[in-house]
Amino acid sequence: MNEILVLYYSRYGATTDMAQRIAVGIESVAGCQARIRTVPPVSTVCEATADTIPDDGPPYASTDDLQECAGLALGSPTRFGNMAAPLKYFLDQTSGLWLGGALIGKPAAVFTSTSSLHGGQETTLLSMMLPLLHHGMLILGLPYSETELISTTSGGTPYGASHTAGHDSKLPLTTEEKNLCTALGKRLAETVVALQRR
Ligand SMILES: Cc1cc2nc3c(=O)[nH]c(=O)nc-3n(C[C@H](O)[C@H](O)[C@H](O)COP(=O)(O)O)c2cc1C
Repeated sequence: MNEILVLYYSRYGATTDMAQRIAVGIESVAGCQARIRTVPPVSTVCEATADTIPDDGPPYASTDDLQECAGLALGSPTRFGNMAAPLKYFLDQTSGLWLGGALIGKPAAVFTSTSSLHGGQETTLLSMMLPLLHHGMLILGLPYSETELISTTSGGTPYGASHTAGHDSKLPLTTEEKNLCTALGKRLAETVVALQRR
């Protein structure tokens, strides 16, 4: 079984909803299973510590999850046009993997949620790709053969899946947003399988 890591941070739940749809897409491909992981919030008080197990939701990720999985879907809410600090903090702990080239050649895809339509989905998605490119990962987007990329009036980009959650982050995923999340997970899993056949 190929495990594909769905690693995300979510404060209000929108990115969690997207992660679950991406996992559905991953698991629609024979021989592929999603490993869903999150990261703890970071605190302005340096000494503050969180429990190692979250109160609810998926477990916190470790760098072993990245090493063990055959591919990665990375998700974050948009924060001022960029990924959220907790996810960046986690990625900043991956130099050991970078030194060993552990992620070179693994496929990866990114997803994000914003409150507003023009609030920086593309910039966030592109910025999330940067550390993955440094790791030598193979970045996947969404092709326009996914025609909901054209018909959507909310989220959905060729750079990755996205969602417009509204000012209180309570808008549910639209049909197009859901389908594009599933398509991204499926494409990621199909790429993992295709790379193994080489
Ligand atoms: C510090 C901070 C910065 C934010 N920056 C943006 C932004 O640049 N553009 C935007 O549309 N929404 C922004 N938001 C809103 C979140 O991206 C949005 O609520 C998102 O859907 C939250 O995802 P979640 O439900 O997974 O936590 C920001 C929220 C916070 C707390």
